[in-house]
Amino acid sequence: MTTVKLGLVGLGTVGCGTLNILKDNADLIAARTGCRIQVVAAAARDLSRARSCDTVGMSLTDDPMQIANNPDVDVLIELMGGTGKAVEVVRAAIMSGKHVITANKALLAEHGNELLALAEEKNVMVAFEASVAGGIPVIKALKEGLAGNKINWLAGIINGTCNYMMTEMAKPGNDFAPVLAEAQRLGYAEAEPSFDIDGIDASHKLAVLASVAFGVPLSRTGMLIEGITMVTAADIAWADDLGYKIKSLGIARRRESGLELRVQSALVPKSKLLANVDDVMNAVMVNGNAAGTTLYYGAGAGGLATGSAVVADIVDVCLAIAAGKNNRPALGVPMAKLASMPILPKDDILSAYYLRLDVTDAAGVLARISTSLATEGISIEEMRQQPDTKTGSATLVLLTNVVQEAAFQRALAALNGLTDLRAPAAWLRVEHLS
Ligand code: HSE
Repeated sequence: MTTVKLGLVGLGTVGCGTLNILKDNADLIAARTGCRIQVVAAAARDLSRARSCDTVGMSLTDDPMQIANNPDVDVLIELMGGTGKAVEVVRAAIMSGKHVITANKALLAEHGNELLALAEEKNVMVAFEASVAGGIPVIKALKEGLAGNKINWLAGIINGTCNYMMTEMAKPGNDFAPVLAEAQRLGYAEAEPSFDIDGIDASHKLAVLASVAFGVPLSRTGMLIEGITMVTAADIAWADDLGYKIKSLGIARRRESGLELRVQSALVPKSKLLANVDDVMNAVMVNGNAAGTTLYYGAGAGGLATGSAVVADIVDVCLAIAAGKNNRPALGVPMAKLASMPILPKDDILSAYYLRLDVTDAAGVLARISTSLATEGISIEEMRQQPDTKTGSATLVLLTNVVQEAAFQRALAALNGLTDLRAPAAWLRVEHLS
């Protein structure tokens, strides 16, 4: 029986979840892999901290480099997070011939190309199922289950904090600030929440998904990254009235001229399964040219859920070691064979749009608004209006057809130039997921 020795860097929630799974399901995992898996060493920033996992028999250190350079370790599991020290640790591990498993999407998005190329050169594997959508095996689905497909597009709810906030804001009386405060109290959002609410975390995950789905290098260059801070409870209520929910999405779409990559808040028809993924749950919808549309749903964070993905990679690496087949390409295709697909600029995005306009309630206003849109070839697909007799104003809510972003932005500027508007227009994109 092959023995595979692991070194774990990071004994936080996911590190402990991983150790607990390896212990509780040891017999099952041994039966499935035919390997004996042994965690021989672990590193943590603060070794004195009480933990919910057993580290007995492991050599413990507060220096992750000791794991990277430990000749007794076959596979380094990187769960320390961040990109500063982590890149050095992973680089050193690969240089010393270790396979690497990581949950670190920021590391992959920022340094993945260099690290994966180095891994190919050193004939070791880098696996990262846990880097996107926690316990959902979406990387495996893309690399293996859908390997026979040309992927047309994918759209995912890949940040649980944003999804929790969008779900809560749909409840009466809840708006952005108190919902964010509650997300922080529950430990979903950090005290400094921008990583989640500005779309940065999702952009790292989208870079990973797009690379695996389309065989392109890991990069966020040119990606549109928008958060959820522009979404109000009023927009969520209007969207509901129109038959939509507002979700924070990561979208990657292949077009003839290139790839659209965007993290954005968007209206999604309630009839789509993705619109019904609520609270902190994650889901990724993938459209391939053979399988059609498939959906992957589950917990996007948490020790056991994310640990499940780490253990799946451990099983994979162990099976490959036992079979003597190291160095499966991490992105599904070797780095040298990655496709070069231009990332389409924001102006070229094709989307439908939602507009909420606070206007003076007077004759001719609607005509001027529709002229501003029609001038750019934009047609109104649906409209609601709510007059306020007390103030002599009205709220107009419009959904447009699918147009180019540049045309929409020109129309938006024209609308904001109309004296009929009492405040700048609020707007969001609409995703029909087809
Ligand atoms: N902060 C992330 C989220 C979980 O809210 O989904 C870790 O990626």
